[in-house]
Amino acid sequence: MTYLYMRLICVSLVVMGALWCYLNPENVKPSKVTPVFSKRASGAFLQLPDSACERNAPFLVLLVTSAPQQAAARSAIRSTWGRERTVRGKRVRALFLLGATPSRDLARAVAREGQQHRDTVQKDFLDTYDNLTLKTMMGMEWVHRYCPQAAFAMKTDSDMFINVDYLVELLLKKNQTSRFFTGLLYKNSLPVRRRSNKWFLSREEYQWGTFPTYCDGTGYVFSSDVASLVYHVSESVRFIRLEDVFVGLCLQKLKIRPRQLHTVQTFFPKGLPFSVCRYRKIVSSHHIKPQEMRLYWYGLESSRGEECPGY
Ligand SMILES: *[C@@H]1O[C@H](CO)[C@@H](O)[C@H](O)[C@H]1NC(C)=O
Ligand SMILES: *[C@@H]1O[C@H](CO)[C@@H](O)[C@H](O)[C@H]1NC(C)=O
Repeated sequence: MTYLYMRLICVSLVVMGALWCYLNPENVKPSKVTPVFSKRASGAFLQLPDSACERNAPFLVLLVTSAPQQAAARSAIRSTWGRERTVRGKRVRALFLLGATPSRDLARAVAREGQQHRDTVQKDFLDTYDNLTLKTMMGMEWVHRYCPQAAFAMKTDSDMFINVDYLVELLLKKNQTSRFFTGLLYKNSLPVRRRSNKWFLSREEYQWGTFPTYCDGTGYVFSSDVASLVYHVSESVRFIRLEDVFVGLCLQKLKIRPRQLHTVQTFFPKGLPFSVCRYRKIVSSHHIKPQEMRLYWYGLESSRGEECPGY
């Protein structure tokens, strides 16, 4: 009996202690996680692309996050959906966002590749998954500083297939040229508190129970003024590793509400099996290998003008 009482007392002490820690804001404030470097000023640009934004402003800039070792994906994107071209009379340009690598050989290869194609934005922060927020902010900074003349920008990844033609068509139809942000919307989603999860967030990093509305990081699109706004507000927003949520927090502070691009789903963060008729009516699909990009691109290009009955 006494044993049971002692256990009860122990359990209540633990619960009260946990509650005290949770409720006392003094215990939340100090954080070892917040990086000491600034989100904006982190590092100097190592490479800047030849973007011709002043002379010939693109309608849409595709900002593709890529890791130094993913040269094969970049090459496939350059020859498929990221090809520099005019879609419905609108200029589209794809650029790659890269961080720095400690490998000297890889760094040299990336520099050479960038000089050859003039399509790389690179800063000297370490290129790791946990630094993805810095990479996104670098993209925002680049649009803000060097390409505010663009009408829209999309942030996406190098394992994505983007149907640029359909995206341009939808953007023209939507006709929202300022304070516009779209993608696959997540509303009232919850932070993951399980340590083993890739998207784990401690209460120190993020103390609230839900996230503001944000768009899946595999592909979101915004009017170029949003890049400047996010760039400026980002300094006063608590840094978190989840870049898409971080951008959502910036948008919340700016009172910009992410909106649907279309009434049906067009962004597919989980991927979608390929068929010409299906891919004609999507904006993005995930988990695409370089060889698949070429196949899908060829499939779509070679079937132009053919009909899709039932679609
Ligand atoms: C992010 O980049 C900075 C600057 O290079 C580096 O000091 C830091 O270790 C990187 N963080 C992670 C989590 O990789
Ligand atoms: C787009 O919006 C502008 C201003 O709101 C309007 O003047 C213009 O006619 C619209 N264009 C189309 C194609 O709907």
